[in-house]
Amino acid sequence: MAAPELGEIQETLLIPLYGRARDAAESGGGVLKDTKAVELVDSIDYDFTKFRGPSLGGSVLRASIFDGYIREFLQRHPEGTVVDLGCGLSTRFDRLDNGRLRWFDLDVDDTMTLRRRFFDDSDRYTMIAASLFDPSWHEQVTERGGPLMLVSEAVLLYFSESEVFDVLRSWARRFPDSPLALDTGGRLMMRSQDRNPVFKAVSARMKWECDDPTTLEHCGLHLQQSRIFAQPQPAVAATWPAKHRYVMRLIGWTPMVTGYKINLFALTS
Ligand SMILES: C[S@@+](CC[C@H](N)C(=O)[O-])C[C@H]1O[C@@H](n2cnc3c(N)ncnc32)[C@H](O)[C@@H]1O
Repeated sequence: MAAPELGEIQETLLIPLYGRARDAAESGGGVLKDTKAVELVDSIDYDFTKFRGPSLGGSVLRASIFDGYIREFLQRHPEGTVVDLGCGLSTRFDRLDNGRLRWFDLDVDDTMTLRRRFFDDSDRYTMIAASLFDPSWHEQVTERGGPLMLVSEAVLLYFSESEVFDVLRSWARRFPDSPLALDTGGRLMMRSQDRNPVFKAVSARMKWECDDPTTLEHCGLHLQQSRIFAQPQPAVAATWPAKHRYVMRLIGWTPMVTGYKINLFALTS
């Protein structure tokens, strides 16, 4: 298959994709058991082997913690709507589909062109080609009515603080009372990107520094849970092979790791 034509930030979706493929190849099928990621990596003409280092495994653990937040939402609202903003080549819908939910995966045009080579819409699953900054998708995702959850994993980190604050305020106004799962990275993480092996392989760099997710309250976000890799939900930790739990006990409380947080907010009007 032809090499993917992706913009700078868009190319970074290939990092977690490769992380999930390597995880699936582990004995026992790893954390996410994402065999579709293996298929995608085999199909896409790209030198994935240039991606190395702890961020590959980190992207898998991150995805499992996000999954945990969405599972909690779906337990309360099995017919709820989930919107994954900046989905990349995520296979989360397949992992979490309960047969009743409504799901939207949104990403920008070039990523969606790539995604559509491998995924199809269905009656409860719709892909939207749009920027998360463009309010054009707001109306569409509320078509079913009822509870709605927004998720944005490893996306807003690439934008400036003012862009992030503006878009968070717009979501709080448009989707009051909805949960929002979102990751934040602190100053140390942002300042050490050039030493991170996966960032040596791509040109994109993260911009938004946020050491304390409670500071997002002024955007209309109320923090409900904030987890570092050393503090996954107990039900999620139970799915991690012992190796990951052991590594997190060793390094999970170092400043480099604790600066990255996976947060669950409630949007407030
Ligand atoms: C590091 S990847 C994360 C992908 C996916 N969330 C995951 O964890 O596997 C960053 C993603 O942000 C997407 N992206 C970049 N700019 C965007 C925008 N303005 N609106 C929505 N998505 C965007 C990219 O296309 C890419 O899929």
